[in-house]
Amino acid sequence: MRVGAIPETLLERIATFAGLAPTPVVDTLHAVIVARAVVVATRLGVFEALAEGPGEAAPIATQLGVHAGGLEKLLNLLVAAGYLRFGKAGYALSPLARKWMLADSPQSLHDSMLLRVLEWQAIDTTEDFVRTGKALDVHDIIRGDQWITYQRGMRSLARLTAGEVVRRVKLPEVATAMLDIGGGHGAYSVAFCREHPELRATILDLPAAVAAAAPVLAEEKMGSRVIHRAGDALTDDFGDAEWDLIFIAQLVHHFDAATNAAIVRHAAEALKPNGRIAILDVLRPDSPNARGQTGALLDLYFAITSNAGTWAADEIAGWFRDAGLKPGRPIHLRTAPGVSVMTATRPR
Ligand SMILES: C[S@@+](CC[C@H](N)C(=O)[O-])C[C@H]1O[C@@H](n2cnc3c(N)ncnc32)[C@H](O)[C@@H]1O
Repeated sequence: MRVGAIPETLLERIATFAGLAPTPVVDTLHAVIVARAVVVATRLGVFEALAEGPGEAAPIATQLGVHAGGLEKLLNLLVAAGYLRFGKAGYALSPLARKWMLADSPQSLHDSMLLRVLEWQAIDTTEDFVRTGKALDVHDIIRGDQWITYQRGMRSLARLTAGEVVRRVKLPEVATAMLDIGGGHGAYSVAFCREHPELRATILDLPAAVAAAAPVLAEEKMGSRVIHRAGDALTDDFGDAEWDLIFIAQLVHHFDAATNAAIVRHAAEALKPNGRIAILDVLRPDSPNARGQTGALLDLYFAITSNAGTWAADEIAGWFRDAGLKPGRPIHLRTAPGVSVMTATRPR
């Protein structure tokens, strides 16, 4: 998936074909304005205000307590960007907005949109990172309620893939215990436990994350089948031959290779014989020329936020082998193009 200048008219198509379209302006100005507009609309409740039916700018502005003229400009951009339609009855949600932007839609990205504001703070430090090579420690700079925004935002992405992940990650025949390292909100643990009635999950996460994620997990009503353990994956003991599945999603991009290799070694000891480890993350393309903007841009983003980045499939498989585990074939998720699950089994 890539962002870029998409011609809308015949003239623009010709200009693009002839190399005359000023693509860098679209990349750096248009993309940013659309991004801000979508997030502002989410924060102000614009999509929710249109959930029941179309409306004109003025009454919606009164309902939301915002300036009618300002809102109209925003609504017009959302029409141009494909989020809204405009007709006789005024502004209406497009199918895209109805699917992704409403808070109670099954595929809702509402909470993910609210997380953008936090991510933009990190992205603002890109130049410092490139000049100095010094990264943020993103989990050290999240404060107070931002932890809730973070956990809810991550949950909305996890929910998109959780169904496919539990279908495609094979567990041992009898699986009763799962450790979800850095599992925060618990969406993956909940999905695994719903799919496997005998399974119970423990989510190991940082104390501040657990405090923010506890009410989010409670919404799932899993009771004692999915519990949190406040701790630190870098220092905690994962146990000895205790788990049928150790699941690690979107965490290894925060750590360097030696740290990840150590986590995998400890995890290998903590797995029961025939137990599985599964690492879900964006994989780094083999070369900068490889197709896939997502992998490359997240490699930079995770470097800025954690001084690490994405990892290649071979690197993760190497951590597995060094820990005495037998790697399986990578699972490339259809529900999240660019995201894969690397699995391995502890020999019996
Ligand atoms: C990007 S989020 C991923 C959350 C979830 N696994 C998912 O895929 O949606 C990273 C999670 O790792 C947690 N984390 C970061 N450093 C950690 C550490 N040292 N020990 C345990 N958890 C950690 C964060 O608090 C956060 O919940």
